[in-house]
Amino acid sequence: MSKIVTVFGATGHQGGCVIRTILNDLDLSKEFKIRGVTRDASKPEAQALAKQGIGITTADMNSKDSLRQALQNSHSVFLVTTPAWGTAGSDAELVHGKNVVDVAKEAGVEHLIFSSLLHVTGTTAGRLKHVPHFDQKAEVERYIRSLGVPATFVLREYFMTNYSMIGFIWKGENGIWTLAYPVGKEAKFPLIDISADMGKYVAASLRNRSATPGTQLLGAEDYYTPTRILEEFEQVTGNKTQFVLVDPETYKSFIPGPMGQEMLENHLFIESPGYFNGKSLEESKELVANARYKLTTWKEFLEQNKNLFAWPGIEVKMMLDGGRVEIVTNNLNLYQICNFHILSRYHMH
Ligand SMILES: NC(=O)c1ccc[n+]([C@@H]2O[C@H](COP(=O)([O-])OP(=O)(O)OC[C@H]3O[C@@H](n4cnc5c(N)ncnc54)[C@H](OP(=O)(O)O)[C@@H]3O)[C@@H](O)[C@H]2O)c1
Repeated sequence: MSKIVTVFGATGHQGGCVIRTILNDLDLSKEFKIRGVTRDASKPEAQALAKQGIGITTADMNSKDSLRQALQNSHSVFLVTTPAWGTAGSDAELVHGKNVVDVAKEAGVEHLIFSSLLHVTGTTAGRLKHVPHFDQKAEVERYIRSLGVPATFVLREYFMTNYSMIGFIWKGENGIWTLAYPVGKEAKFPLIDISADMGKYVAASLRNRSATPGTQLLGAEDYYTPTRILEEFEQVTGNKTQFVLVDPETYKSFIPGPMGQEMLENHLFIESPGYFNGKSLEESKELVANARYKLTTWKEFLEQNKNLFAWPGIEVKMMLDGGRVEIVTNNLNLYQICNFHILSRYHMH
């Protein structure tokens, strides 16, 4: 009988990618039966999974009772947690993670694969202490280790979609595509095509269970500096680009609430000591290559997703207010609005 692999975040980017990768892997799809977790089985993403034969189970990481049902008889579990963005002082992500880990321990799960990150406060000895969406994942990882649940940690990196869907690379009115960061153009960003490649690390880990428990897999195709990101963007799209260094106070002032400081420190961490604290990606890439998976390069991502940079269907109306651009449509998400504010301040006047 097939073993059950339970996938959290099944309706999202990471869990969705894990499911697609297992389904497309001849060996793993025979070895494992997939159970996808959602809080709402009626949502279209969950329904689409059910149509592909994925067992859908309803659970909320806030409720251990619901988790007990979801994890029953699970051999392996993929866990991704999400932060309570912009809610100062919230430890929701840590609580969610610990709840799942407690129940996984009770249920005797044999392999937990957790989407983790480094502890920014600890790694920088307190210099950067406002990046809870990193710290809380690292604390969940620490908790997993303390309970002795057999686990592999996939440290997922900077999403290539940040440049397309979130609009980090933006076309100004002068026709030049701009990338603006509060860190220098030689900072190293470990990039991943999250919707195509996250599952490859998880699948490689499921294939090599005896080799990976306790290890941290660094999930990135390569380190890319803003210089290289823009050079390759120009090569693939033929568009002219520029890099702009935004001073920290301006960067923060355009992002509402505690997220301003959090996103600033997130980027300062990437610049120094580095997203993975300077570690090489080679060992993790080798594991993926040995499992016969190929990671997506930034150029390949650009080729496949050129259309995403145009934000089709989004209508942006603007009011000019003392040299500031205000967006009066609410069609954009928070990141897009923040980024748009930064770029418009720097380039559209
Ligand atoms: N590195 C980067 O550049 C970058 C950029 C963006 C995000 N991130 C990180 O990526 C992570 C999010 O991953 P993602 O993009 O795959 O997420 P996503 O696409 O936003 O999906 C979130 C998933 O989590 C599930 N979920 C949320 N709260 C839940 C709860 N209480 N109980 C059970 N399930 C719950 C949702 O399921 P239902 O709604 O179906 O219940 C959904 O499937 C975050 O931790 C964030 O820090 C990183």
